[in-house]
Amino acid sequence: MIINANSVLPPLKRILVIGSGGRENSLAWALKKSPEIEEVFVSPGNAGTQTLECCKSLSIQENNLTAIIETCNSQKIDLVVIGPEAPLAAGLADGLRNAGLIVFGPGAEGAKLESSKGWAKDLMQEANVPTAKHWTARTSNEALAILNEAQQPLVVKADGLAAGKGVTVSETIDVCKKAIQEVFEGKFGVAGNQLILEERLQGPEVSVFALCDGKDLVLLPTAQDHKRLKEGDQGPNTGGMGAYAPAPLLSAEELAAVKTKILEPTLKALMQRRIDYRGVIYAGLMLTSSGPKVIEFNCRFGDPECQALMPLMGPELAKVLQACALGRLELAPKLSITNQCSACVVAAAYGYPESPRSGDPLRIQVDLDDSLQLFQAGTKVDKEGRLVTSGGRVLALVAQGNNFDETFTKVYKGMEQVDFNGITYRKDIGYQVRQN
Ligand code: AMP
Ligand code: GLY
Repeated sequence: MIINANSVLPPLKRILVIGSGGRENSLAWALKKSPEIEEVFVSPGNAGTQTLECCKSLSIQENNLTAIIETCNSQKIDLVVIGPEAPLAAGLADGLRNAGLIVFGPGAEGAKLESSKGWAKDLMQEANVPTAKHWTARTSNEALAILNEAQQPLVVKADGLAAGKGVTVSETIDVCKKAIQEVFEGKFGVAGNQLILEERLQGPEVSVFALCDGKDLVLLPTAQDHKRLKEGDQGPNTGGMGAYAPAPLLSAEELAAVKTKILEPTLKALMQRRIDYRGVIYAGLMLTSSGPKVIEFNCRFGDPECQALMPLMGPELAKVLQACALGRLELAPKLSITNQCSACVVAAAYGYPESPRSGDPLRIQVDLDDSLQLFQAGTKVDKEGRLVTSGGRVLALVAQGNNFDETFTKVYKGMEQVDFNGITYRKDIGYQVRQN
């Protein structure tokens, strides 16, 4: 579609969200807030997608480009929003754009920000973005030599997408050596064809999200994820067990500095590589004693940070994503964001993250209202018509309030009305900002 310099954004009535997690359900729910939107489709979605007002599931897999294009044409889709990293890294956005569709989400080159840690590190270096010192190794001997020289434990990272499991942070050199071996023995498949060793940084972590149109960006409130399975930040790493927003760890001035010192230079470096990055840049930051440093970039919204953020977004969100997708952020309405607090708690299946159990029937009796949402993720309807677990992170409950105490009280009260055998959730999400 060609738009001249003075034009306004084209009509936006029908949106397709690609993905099947809680993130995609929260996106669909938030996009539907725009009075202009008639219908939001989610594909493949989950059992909860249909329970969102005016949202429909389509059963097309994320990697079926032809079927997605056909559906977009037959359903007259005005905007496609791609949720997860795997289809972005596989070039789904490129394929859809080549077919003339308007897409929010970077192409495969831009998605390398997430799909190749080495590539992202080089870009950060080029753009002078503060990040941990790093070394790249293509063989285990190379990696061991670097570790030997450093004479201290280094963080070991498989280069490619490893579903959040490819990073080892350890106190001991022996564990680092073992992690190096595992990467080159193929524990993470092709994601481990090369690895990155990093100096270990210290400090609290915060997630920052920018919506980009290729040349400009708009910031969303910060959010804090809780990656460990167990209370007190113990246990194995997960995709995220809960989140809250905004994260008071960064003041408004500090966030503005993150924009000018980290996000804008990154976008500029992408432009210099002729990458027209239209989508989310998610910067995972560590707030070190010498300022915020990038731990990782992702090329999409965080899950569950997205579920915490979406209820804070005004009805302009859909038009803002459309403007980004068209490369015309200057035409977007100003995105209004409520100054409330938002809290998200994830309920995971028994056995998550190693081997989550499927098939446990859900009992949901929670009274949802304007400040309490339930976003399903790993759910399906079984042969007997029951709503059952079918994935690691089963659902997220999200509440908003005027302060974090009130907000977390509300979300945990709601959680008491949700149950399934083996339900696992952390009771200390937001401990950083709660008094009670
Ligand atoms: P990543 O997948 O790169 O975000 O890493 C997963 C987690 O490992 C991060 O959320 C951090 O908690 C930790 N981590 C990664 N890199 C470092 C580092 N250089 N120093 C300390 N911790 C790190
Ligand atoms: N919650 C972390 C992530 O989405 O990568």
